Formats: sequence, C-alpha cells, structure tokens
Amino acid sequence: MNTIPVNEPMLGKRELEYVSECVRTGWVSSAGRFIHEFEREWATYCGRKYGVAVCNGTAALQVAVAALDLQPGDEIILPTFTIVSCVLAVVYNGCVPVLVDAEPATWCMDVDKVKGKISPKTRAIMAVHIYGHPVDMDPLLSLAEQYGLAVIEDAAEAHGCEILSRIKTNSPEWRRCGSFGTLSCFSFYANKLITTGEGGMVLTNDSKLAERIRGLRNLCFLPGRRFRHEELGFNFRMTNMQAALGLAQLERIEEIIARKRWMGREYTRRLQEIQALELQQQEVWARSVYWMYGIVLAQESNMDARLLAEELKKRGVETRPFFIGMHEQPVFHQRGLFVGEQYPVAERIARRGLYLPSGLTLTEDQLEQVCNALREVLS
Ligand SMILES: Cc1ncc(COP(=O)(O)O)c(C=O)c1O
Repeated sequence: MNTIPVNEPMLGKRELEYVSECVRTGWVSSAGRFIHEFEREWATYCGRKYGVAVCNGTAALQVAVAALDLQPGDEIILPTFTIVSCVLAVVYNGCVPVLVDAEPATWCMDVDKVKGKISPKTRAIMAVHIYGHPVDMDPLLSLAEQYGLAVIEDAAEAHGCEILSRIKTNSPEWRRCGSFGTLSCFSFYANKLITTGEGGMVLTNDSKLAERIRGLRNLCFLPGRRFRHEELGFNFRMTNMQAALGLAQLERIEEIIARKRWMGREYTRRLQEIQALELQQQEVWARSVYWMYGIVLAQESNMDARLLAEELKKRGVETRPFFIGMHEQPVFHQRGLFVGEQYPVAERIARRGLYLPSGLTLTEDQLEQVCNALREVLS
C-alpha cells in the first residue's frame, strides 16, 4: 500500500532554472543577485520595507530577539503551544520566557490572557500563527502599544495568510501576516508554503533594526573594516542557491495558496460532521492558508492522538502529532523554567491533536482516502 505523505515540496522548472544559474555562474554562497531579489520581493509581498534572509526560521527568531538589545532577565511573553525555536530564541538571548495558553477554537495564543502576564520586566510579545491561521493581532498590537512592548511575529506557518485589521486605518483592511510585528520572522523549511530547502527571513519597517540584523547574521563584521568586531554575531547567512529556489517559488505563491485553501475547504466539508473531531475554527477576520490541516479528538472520544495515528498509518495515511507545550518540556524544567505551570488547552490539544496529509501534491482521491480512513477508525 502506498502511504499518503504528510507533505511533499512541489518544485518545478523555474526552480531548476534559477538554481542552475547559481551553479553555472559560480554564485553559490551568500553573495549574488537572488539574495537581494528574494529579500526585496518577499518584503514587498508581505507589505514591509526591509527583508533580511537567514539560514532558517529558528535563526530568524534568534536574531530578531538579539536585535532588540534586551537585558538579561527581561521577559518575553509567548504561547506555550509552539515549536521549541521560539523559547530557544528567548533563552539563548538571556531573557525569560513567560507563557500563555492556547485559545481553544483556533489553537493560537489566547490574546485575552496576555495582559495578565505583563510585568515591569516585560519587553516584548512573540505571537505565533498556528497551522496557517493567524493570531488575533489587533488587540495584541493595542496592548503592546499601551505597554511600550516590541512585537515579534512568527509567521513561519502563515505565508500569505491575511487578517482583517483596523489597526492602521479606521476602515478595516486585509493585511498579510508578516506585516504586523516590530520584527516578523519566517521559515522556508521544505514543508512551508514557500520553501528554500532550509531558510528564513526577518522583515521590518525599521531601517536601523534591519541593518542591525544584517550585521548579526554576518558575524558583526564592522562595515568600515572587515575582520574587526565590536560585538559577537552569528553566521546565519542564506545562500544564493536557497534564495534562487525561494524566488522561483514566490512567482507562483497565488497558485500555492489556492491549492492549500482548496485542501482546507475540502477537508472541512468532509470532516465537519464527524462528532468525534474538533477542527481549527476559521475566524471571520482571518483568511487561513491551511499550512497543515489539524484535527483534535473531541473530549467524548476515548481514543488519543497516538492511537489514532497508528490506526491511520495501518490505512496508509501518514500524520504528525501536534506540538507539546513548552511548559511540558524536560529541557526547560532542568533550567528551572515553567515548573508546575499548567495550560489546560495546550495540554489537551497536544495529546488529542494531529495533522493530516496537507502537501501541495495531495490529490482529491488521496484526500477522500484520508477522510474515509478517519470515518472508519472513528465510527
Ligand atoms: C512556528 C514556527 N516557528 C519557527 C520554526 C522554525 O523554523 P526552522 O525549522 O526553519 O528553523 C518553525 C518550523 O517549523 C515553526 O513552525
């Protein structure tokens, strides 16, 4: 039996053409035309002034926090239901992560719970859009403004996703994710909507922050004198070949998003009547891009996600478990972080959630097969 994979990248002729150009011309490291073009085009697509490409999404978050020049012990508020990269970026920069539970309908950070976590040491909020659905950014941005906090937006899973926002104008307008943060971060890992294999980017409208991130990604060489350093940076550079791939992908982002939205609609249509399942709610102010199609086993179901994954695997359907909350990670407990903290929504969805095959190559027959397998297991 052929297994239906969770994800497969879709690469075409244009990708081959651009990457071949790098090989043909010898521009294979982090200098070359594609880097600048990809940075400019991605920033423009997301409605930002500056883009700084880096080697992956984790590095993007790490330099974003570093660029804010925070003091040891300063606090950053972020969701517990996310990837380890988010907390790692905070901890590696000597700051203290302060967690917030997920919101039960969209699984994104519960914005109503953020205010209660603000302390005199809070300096920033990191908002993470989950599985293609955005965080409710308007109230979060108002709160950040009220308390003078920076916002780091993690839009790794939300390329092209939009929010109906009122924050800049009186009349609501659709704005893309990646346009909201003081600094907005992306991953272009192979399972993302736009991929560079490995890769990431930080976007901002602030020229000083952009310059600082350019320095940090390239070992903080002093502009006037290479090999002289006043600060420690990182080698987080993206290669021209990676950027070539990204630029080619970006040329057909509309087609990629349309494909993901088709998948989202079709799964929802077929799965919404299954009583044993909770689906990620789509808010009226959001246009999700369905990065991955997640499902959560409802409280009545006596199955957990691990058992469901095994049963689906027997039927040729590959899945991935949901994140495990950051407060449940041994690595942070060992550092004295989050000990005894409880976040019931994140704990529940971590145990009862998984995501289904969601790749761009998924056919309607395969999608139907996934839904039939689910109906069979859950009936
Ligand atoms: C929300 C989120 N942030 C950050 C990352 C890290 O990106 P990368 O794998 O490129 O380091 C990921 C990766 O999947 C992610 O899903």
